[in-house]
Amino acid sequence: MPGRRGSAAGGCRVHGGRAQDRPVPDCVPRPKGGLVGLEQGGRLVACSQVRESSGLAPAPLLVPLARVASYVDFAEYYDLDHAIVEDIPFYLDLAGRQGSPVLELACGTGRVLLPLAGAGLDLHGLDVSENMLAVCRRGVERLGLSERVTLHHGDMAGFDLARKDFTLAFAALRSFMHLLSRAEQLACLQRAHAHLRPDGRLALDLIAPDPVRLAQRPSERFEVRREFNLPDGRRVLRKQRLVAHDRATQVRHFEFLFEVYDREGHLAHERVVPISLRYSFRDELEGLLDAAGFVDVAAFRDYEGHPYDGTGELIVVARRAATRRG
Ligand SMILES: C[S@@+](CC[C@H](N)C(=O)[O-])C[C@H]1O[C@@H](n2cnc3c(N)ncnc32)[C@H](O)[C@@H]1O
Repeated sequence: MPGRRGSAAGGCRVHGGRAQDRPVPDCVPRPKGGLVGLEQGGRLVACSQVRESSGLAPAPLLVPLARVASYVDFAEYYDLDHAIVEDIPFYLDLAGRQGSPVLELACGTGRVLLPLAGAGLDLHGLDVSENMLAVCRRGVERLGLSERVTLHHGDMAGFDLARKDFTLAFAALRSFMHLLSRAEQLACLQRAHAHLRPDGRLALDLIAPDPVRLAQRPSERFEVRREFNLPDGRRVLRKQRLVAHDRATQVRHFEFLFEVYDREGHLAHERVVPISLRYSFRDELEGLLDAAGFVDVAAFRDYEGHPYDGTGELIVVARRAATRRG
């Protein structure tokens, strides 16, 4: 049951336009055969847009179709596919030191947002996928966190929330890598800057552009990356392949193949989902942070806070300078 906009009775507070009132809507037309977005690549689609502070009616949110499409079709699998907890203490610690309110960019199903709200912090979550937000909303309701969580449907490269006093903004688990150009990344950092209070912190978690990883060649063959069971006993194999690597733009295009097997072990159906990620080098990221008005950048290779060495993760934590240059 999706939450209602501004719901006081039971639902978490949800902003972002009428689309939330429909049952688990997709922003993206679902082509026959279950392939989403593959043949529609770079088209723009309209979703509702977060535009609280302007007082205007929500305007259509135009985002590249592929960006929304990626998570439309596997939002229901996401938490089973990403049963990752290693990064949660890192964000708990950071948020605990910064205090409320905290903004999670690309919050998805609430994998990180829910434990933070459960620890007593006030959280705002923003995501471009209504289906991911619908899963998050159910978690908020199940855990009784409606008073502490506000969800927004919007693009992290172009959002404008009423609150501009966040102590911490973060994008966990490589979400920032979904911004596929330098311009989009800079726009996101500038929006984050505009929403943080002076001395607020921004944390981003990217994959380190490890030369070994970047040497991987595109392939026709899918490799099994994950196996998990659905609550009804069906088994899912998640396979993955690198489709193309555009070295000029630093974007790698993947396909995830979900194979769903019934309880007798027969392939019941399969679904291909495109995912594109832009990698960044540390200096490049620091340059962008500087241009957006962030200072005191610390870089780590893991969630234990070991210094960045070009392997593992590229986690950065920066402080919002009081004013932005230029
Ligand atoms: C890998 S998931 C991470 C979700 C969550 N942060 C976590 O750690 O589990 C990436 C998320 O980024 C969201 N996303 C991708 N592009 C976005 C954008 N431009 N603005 C907001 N959310 C975006 C997707 O919808 C998806 O929920």
